Amino acid sequence: MVKSICVIGAGHVGVPHAATIAKKCPSIRVTVVDEDARKIAAWCSTLLPFYEPSLQECVEDVRGVNLFFETDLAKAVTSADIILVSVSTPLKHSGMGANFAPDLQHWERIARLIAEASPEPKLIVERSTVPVRTADVMATVLCHNSGGAKWTVLSNPEFAREGNAMVDHASPERIMIGAGNSDAAKAAAESLVAIYRQWVPADKIIVSGIWSAELSKLTANAFLAQRISSINAISALCETTGADVSEVAYAIGVDSRIGRKHLQASVGFGGACYETHLRNLVYLCRHYRLKEVATYWESVIKMNDYQKRRFATKIVAAMFNTVSGKKLAILGFSYKKNTSDVRHTPALDVCKALLAERAALAIHDPRVSSEAIGVAFTDAAGHEQHLSIEADPYMAANGAHALVVLTEWDAFARLDFARLYASMQRPAFIFDGRNLLDHDALRAIGFVVYGIGKPVQLSSQQSSQRAEAERSAEVSMRGRVRVGAARPEQPTEDGAHSPPADLKRVETLGGMA
Ligand SMILES: NC(=O)c1ccc[n+]([C@@H]2O[C@H](COP(=O)([O-])OP(=O)(O)OC[C@H]3O[C@@H](n4cnc5c(N)ncnc54)[C@H](O)[C@@H]3O)[C@@H](O)[C@H]2O)c1
Repeated sequence: MVKSICVIGAGHVGVPHAATIAKKCPSIRVTVVDEDARKIAAWCSTLLPFYEPSLQECVEDVRGVNLFFETDLAKAVTSADIILVSVSTPLKHSGMGANFAPDLQHWERIARLIAEASPEPKLIVERSTVPVRTADVMATVLCHNSGGAKWTVLSNPEFAREGNAMVDHASPERIMIGAGNSDAAKAAAESLVAIYRQWVPADKIIVSGIWSAELSKLTANAFLAQRISSINAISALCETTGADVSEVAYAIGVDSRIGRKHLQASVGFGGACYETHLRNLVYLCRHYRLKEVATYWESVIKMNDYQKRRFATKIVAAMFNTVSGKKLAILGFSYKKNTSDVRHTPALDVCKALLAERAALAIHDPRVSSEAIGVAFTDAAGHEQHLSIEADPYMAANGAHALVVLTEWDAFARLDFARLYASMQRPAFIFDGRNLLDHDALRAIGFVVYGIGKPVQLSSQQSSQRAEAERSAEVSMRGRVRVGAARPEQPTEDGAHSPPADLKRVETLGGMA
């Protein structure tokens, strides 16, 4: 009977999971350990390290009852029956597999620390996303550092969605537990199943081989990212043909073989997982010499880079081929709504592209701290780029030439756009990178509106002029900024210089006339 669990890694995976176990299993003592003392102090305070809906309430319910936060790993490990490892596995930035292979230094260090601290072998559960066969490596390191003792390592990948994590933890679509073939591994899997069974129905729990569990997480994220890149690829085609990507997505989504979810065209995907896990998958395929498979999955990342760059290019082209000195209000900086997470946020790439064009940015996000935004724009020399961060969206928009929606926060759809319009320069542009807003209503106010994959009702001559202006802006921006840094540039397209679009044309395009 499990009485005590240690969760290593007080991050986006570790804490929502730990808090859920504590809440659902009152007889289990759950201790979360992290080497970051500031983070642990924040988890013990009222100002938690990040925003996740309902997490604060859940933590406050069980903290000090059967949920505890610690920095002393040895102490927490010693008293635990099961150790769940949820530490970060970022991409390697140098050496072999740079930008594709996961950096497993935390993992190996954790294995050594556990072996050192624990008087006997314990059940270890991989919760971080790790490459296939990491469980073997972990068991080997543990064994060598504990006088040859046999350790059992299970894989229990995290499928909860950031922004919806507490709901997903409370009613998961599935729990996957991967175990080896030994009797000890099977018994260990049963003890983990018994914990989940305290709130999860049996038919939602999948027990599988350990390598299948490790690979399923990478595969799930690769498929999800691929859907976004697929619909984003179609959004580019919609913009040039006059089709509407929302109508296309709806029509294909009602086909039950395709399904309606995750078909929203946007400025691109972000977050800690999609790109990192796609890169891990590409690395794995290359490692096993599956070149075509690696190329296939890498194209999903390339399409995402293209979409971010395309959006920034559209902004510059529409604003008469220059944003230099113009104030742009950026609405949203987190990689999606309902989270304060900015890891791999497309907003950063779009903002950097606009800053390279010398735009003056005023960034507003309802949940991302100004410190987190500032850090994102700090260069290698420690200098912050020139931009302002506004707590109030109306202040951000005051005197701006354009509103640029980069995160689909519900609150943005409820803004008073007539008030925003009154305070802005003319023409007042809106670039809706999430297709969140009511474009017809905005046009009725007087805004010039651009969405993603939305028709702009151009004559064929205007259409080719616009395409030329966008190509020209793209070529000029490519020379200066790399959207999706640390990745090889895509081949440049040929693009002749085109004259800046004139105001009259944009008014007609945007429906101001
Ligand atoms: N964020 C997600 O939604 C999500 C979903 C599924 C899987 N994952 C995977 O889960 C893992 C964790 O992701 P995350 O988003 O929670 O990361 P995170 O950065 O939010 O949290 C990881 C935590 O581990 C801590 N840590 C690192 N090394 C440590 C050590 N040696 N001792 C103690 N603590 C240590 C860090 O201080 C950090 O607080 C990654 O492998 C990630 O790919 C993340």
